[in-house]
Amino acid sequence: MIPRIYIPADSGALALGAEKVARAIEKELKERGVEAKIVRNGSRGAYFLEPMVEVATAEGRVAYGPVKPSDVKSLFDSGFLKGGHHKRWLGAPDKIPFLAKQTRLTFARCGVIDPLSLDSYKSHGGLKGLENAVAMAPADIVSQVTESGLRGRGGAGFPTGIKWKTVLDTAGDRKYIVCNADEGDSATFADRMIMEGDPFVLIEGMAIAGIATGATKGFVYIRSEYPHAVATMNKAVAIARKAGVLGVNVLGSPNAFDMEIRVGAGAYVCGEETSLLNSLEGKRGVVRAKPPLPAIQGLFGKPTVINNVISLASVPIIMDKGAAYYKDFGMGRSRGTIPIQIAGNVKHGGLFETAFGLTLGEIVDEIGGGTASGRPVKAVQVGGPLGAYFPRALFDTPFDYEAFAAKDGLIGHAGLTVFDDTADMMKQARFAMEFCAIESCGKCTPCRIGSTRGVEVLDKVAAGIEAEKNLALVTDLCNTMKFGSLCALGGFTPYPVMSSITHFPEDFKPAPARVAAE
Ligand SMILES: Cc1cc2nc3c(=O)[nH]c(=O)nc-3n(C[C@H](O)[C@H](O)[C@H](O)COP(=O)(O)O)c2cc1C
Ligand code: SF4
Repeated sequence: MIPRIYIPADSGALALGAEKVARAIEKELKERGVEAKIVRNGSRGAYFLEPMVEVATAEGRVAYGPVKPSDVKSLFDSGFLKGGHHKRWLGAPDKIPFLAKQTRLTFARCGVIDPLSLDSYKSHGGLKGLENAVAMAPADIVSQVTESGLRGRGGAGFPTGIKWKTVLDTAGDRKYIVCNADEGDSATFADRMIMEGDPFVLIEGMAIAGIATGATKGFVYIRSEYPHAVATMNKAVAIARKAGVLGVNVLGSPNAFDMEIRVGAGAYVCGEETSLLNSLEGKRGVVRAKPPLPAIQGLFGKPTVINNVISLASVPIIMDKGAAYYKDFGMGRSRGTIPIQIAGNVKHGGLFETAFGLTLGEIVDEIGGGTASGRPVKAVQVGGPLGAYFPRALFDTPFDYEAFAAKDGLIGHAGLTVFDDTADMMKQARFAMEFCAIESCGKCTPCRIGSTRGVEVLDKVAAGIEAEKNLALVTDLCNTMKFGSLCALGGFTPYPVMSSITHFPEDFKPAPARVAAE
């Protein structure tokens, strides 16, 4: 049997040098006259071990990482094609603690299969959900998704089945499925990882959504910073179309569904669903007032499902294994699994899919391994730039939508940015206001004007100018933004600002030393 070598072509792995490693391995194979098949897989998400190269042996796959081009010769000398020992040897990938502790439902194939091999997808359980769906009535598919407890993974945690039911129940000569792959939150990369590592799961999820709601056309709106995801998705759509997974008769059924990939406009606010619809229609990415809901009047005024990549990619397993199977994972009203993305100043950065319910402390300290700098963890921002900063005192908070909301935080798209004790929370609060000022679409006053005033007032606090009075003003301004903004960009910016002030008051004290130093 010709040896198989798996080298990730995922952008995270490429950023860490996977392409150079691939070239060095190709060169070495040639020089040694050894035949081997190189598969460019996605990443398994343990980025602290990337580039992670795997070889298929008679005993299963053996991983090596992080591999540098300079390791390649000695890897061959150590007999790595047969799983031989080497300083980069990691053993069976599923036994690596970071991966072994996960519950992979949505990401089960990511990093395992050849992303563009439909056969490989099928032999690992792919298309079973769609096969079941084409044999069901739309209302039954919607019930199954509702019953599973799946909630939107894009940020708001809205029940996916209820959104689909609205579209199913709304009459329309045309309906659309729009996949939100703008993934603008800091510390997030789950959407990108799955689009690059297992694109057919998203295509399958979108086709199921189409059949469930009567939509015949889908669009994936991918941020422009994701060229590899765009390329992989385009190729995967063409393969799926040729194989009859997409088209006028999905899997030979009377259901029609096709889709297109669109590249985003490069604004954070274009991830907000109505702004995204405007952008897809070729207009400026400005937020639309709701109602009407996109489910009633969405893309081109037609009933539209807008879901995040992970929400849609979680549907195939629900339709394959059933709602009860998926619902069995999780806690409270947060059912199933969530791909937590651990980033920032952290030792073991990467994607960790697990059932809801782990505490923040378990995620940061045990799975993330603490900070990369080795200094104490000071704060963790959860949920992207609009998420709250959590201090160690709140590390017992379980990863659950309601538990986070009860602590004035949010899960968002499940990205975590870890900070050590050198972080200045006043600067972080200012950064949140500044980010809002830069990214604001300008449609409503509390966000457009409030964020700019917020930066100015925080600068006064930093300069020690009537600090107490100005801090009270920031709080007042945050309330206005929270309750008066049209969308969550202005409405949630108060979360990082107020959590910084509440949990780290010492960083907002007048600091003559700091002023003098600056
Ligand atoms: C400023 C802003 C940016 C957003 N960015 C994203 C994004 O990048 N990806 C995403 O899926 N949802 C994003 N959302 C949430 C979407 O508006 C919407 O709730 C989501 O796409 C719905 O899909 P879901 O129900 O599957 O989560 C954003 C919201 C706001 C207010
Ligand atoms: S809150 Fe900001 S981004 Fe949202 S509609 Fe208002 S101005 Fe636009």
